[in-house]
Amino acid sequence: MVVNKPPMGWNSWNTFGTNINEQIIFETVDALVEKGYKDAGYEYVVIDDCWMARERDENGDLTANPEKFPHGMKYVGDYIHSKGMKFGIYSSASPLTCQGYPASYGHEYRDAKKFAEWGVDYLKYDLCHFPGKADYRNAYLTMGMALRASGRDILYALCPIGIGEPEKWSRAVGGHMYRSTVDIFDSFESLKDNAQKQFYKTHYSAPGCFNDIDMLIVGMHGKGLVADVYGLNGCTDEEYRMHFAFWCMFGSPLMIGCDVRNVDDYCRDTLLNRELIAIDQDAEARPLYFDERARFHDDNKIGFMKMLENNKIVLGYFNFSESKAAINVYFEDFGIAAESGFGLELTDVMTGENIGKKFDAYCPTLEAHSFRIFKAEFCKR
Ligand code: GLA
Repeated sequence: MVVNKPPMGWNSWNTFGTNINEQIIFETVDALVEKGYKDAGYEYVVIDDCWMARERDENGDLTANPEKFPHGMKYVGDYIHSKGMKFGIYSSASPLTCQGYPASYGHEYRDAKKFAEWGVDYLKYDLCHFPGKADYRNAYLTMGMALRASGRDILYALCPIGIGEPEKWSRAVGGHMYRSTVDIFDSFESLKDNAQKQFYKTHYSAPGCFNDIDMLIVGMHGKGLVADVYGLNGCTDEEYRMHFAFWCMFGSPLMIGCDVRNVDDYCRDTLLNRELIAIDQDAEARPLYFDERARFHDDNKIGFMKMLENNKIVLGYFNFSESKAAINVYFEDFGIAAESGFGLELTDVMTGENIGKKFDAYCPTLEAHSFRIFKAEFCKR
């Protein structure tokens, strides 16, 4: 199965955690279709941890939790498919899932076969509770093989939570995406941490297998699963938009984590922004470019360049710092030397505003926790 673009969809974990059920999933599917998400490219509906019964059935198979999914998982998959979307499910490379439910370690071929029977199109495969002495790389490979043997195309989303340099082996074990980070939480600090830790690893992400910097928190506004425990207040709408813009510049999979039945208009517009989604889904799928040796390089006030198909370019300016600041971008650091005679004519992708022809450098001042992304066309001096 070839996956050429970062997968897009929705995942139950960030908002619902363990409190999932058939009704929530069905209402979410309906909202994804009716509110424009499906049309914008969101495709997979992924039911995360806690969908299964506490014990395997008498045959040794994973089976649906009878209270949450009384009609079984095939029924859920059929509903998702009937709405033109794809069915994602969750298990783990360990004996137990992160929440202590039975998982697939030692049962890979049996479980992959069952997933295929249920019509599963996507498997998120976690790593919590992995036995210390066991070989998790081999465990991921075993499920990769089991999926191939299952007779169905199932997108394999590894979730090794950044452990063991997954960028180096996920592609080889059959993965189509790999979680390179710890869990995201609904706060600016958390999204910043996930983003910055992966700046330097963007080049491992490419068609076939994408670096997944975790699900989106856009639109959660503190209503997520751990809000009670950690007292998270969420982010501002602008911070959520910056988060989405960075994920798109990075080319991460885009898995919505909020309650799409009730999201506010601003965040819905963010998640449906076609310009940003097009950057994420660009056919060339090139990594971000920046040079940490550049004169004024600063991870907190950083400019990126990304090449897109049809010889297009975008520049992304991100102020992750706590104060208003200039973002210093010198075009020679992006390969446009002064002697070339070329400058860049910039158009803000969020507002459509043409901000004119710039030569040698463009260093706008950005508010704290804000961003700008520009389409850039070559222009002559
Ligand atoms: C891990 C993963 C999360 C989620 C939970 C479920 O923490 O990283 O994305 O799947 O497990 O328990």
